[in-house]
Amino acid sequence: MKALINTSEGLIFKTVADPSPAPNQALVAVRAFSLNRGELALLAARTEGWRPGQDVAGVVVEAAADGSGPTPGTRVVALVEDSGWAELAAVPTARLAELPDEVEIEQAAALPLAGRTALNTIRLGGNLLGRKVLVTGATGGVGHYQVQLAVLSGADVTAVARSGADYGAAKAVPSITDAEGPYDLVAESSGGESLHHAIAKIAPGGTVVVLGTSSGAKAPIDVYDFIGHEGARLVNYMSYADPSPINRDLQTLSKLIAQQKLTTDLGFHADWTQIKVALDELRHRTFRGKAVLTIQ
Ligand SMILES: NC(=O)c1ccc[n+]([C@@H]2O[C@H](COP(=O)([O-])OP(=O)(O)OC[C@H]3O[C@@H](n4cnc5c(N)ncnc54)[C@H](OP(=O)(O)O)[C@@H]3O)[C@@H](O)[C@H]2O)c1
Repeated sequence: MKALINTSEGLIFKTVADPSPAPNQALVAVRAFSLNRGELALLAARTEGWRPGQDVAGVVVEAAADGSGPTPGTRVVALVEDSGWAELAAVPTARLAELPDEVEIEQAAALPLAGRTALNTIRLGGNLLGRKVLVTGATGGVGHYQVQLAVLSGADVTAVARSGADYGAAKAVPSITDAEGPYDLVAESSGGESLHHAIAKIAPGGTVVVLGTSSGAKAPIDVYDFIGHEGARLVNYMSYADPSPINRDLQTLSKLIAQQKLTTDLGFHADWTQIKVALDELRHRTFRGKAVLTIQ
């Protein structure tokens, strides 16, 4: 099969052996995959022979030998640890979900890491009915799902989007400094000064979920920043340590897409031969939402 392999000169297409699935793994023909900001850092750090790719959608070609998971021919979405940017992927059945008919493969491929991160970071705010929520990085893969999921939860949502954007039920502001707090939940992924401002906007006892630093900057914070925001908590989220069952989260997200309660902003869509262009566009944030590449 053909696969994308990382090298010190960048990504290359290479013919490699088909995966040999473990008993708990289904063999999936990958039809589309999406990119995540974190993968830019992984590609820079893991050069020699690493096989990238976490978000995949496709069709089961071989069911798991232990009898778990779907049968051949089933359309699925999956979150794998790596090696997903390839024609075939061996996927633990606990990490995949069957797709409802209404969900297109490209929409599904956008969901795994960004959607699951959005789902579980918004859940960290508890019951959000009537609560105030602030989302930074709202034009991004994770952020645009966080905004929609917080609105769905009944919150009064403000989206921080440098470019300005239409967020339906949510208000949009160009900078976190323009956001009118206090907020019960802030989902913070921009890092640096943005985290500093997030604390300045949090209600006493509220929750700031610290999940990323898209700006690459460090946050200068100390105890005095919490005066007026007493009892507020900073909660870290790391998807790799999230105990929420992946198959169930992917089912939840796919169902919301099928019901048109959640939509994916597909800002970049091309054939997987365009991978280098897609990574450059992501690096420079020339599009909104998610980049999805399809395998013909
Ligand atoms: N902790 C976890 O488990 C987890 C999981 C997934 C992602 N993450 C992190 O969450 C963040 C968002 O991930 P993503 O995949 O959604 O990324 P993305 O699609 O590239 O979105 C990045 C967002 O951050 C905004 N942003 C603000 N300042 C920025 C800057 N200086 N440089 C680049 N972007 C900036 C962008 O706004 P513009 O559109 O205006 O550029 C965009 O809305 C990343 O830091 C990622 O590493 C963490």
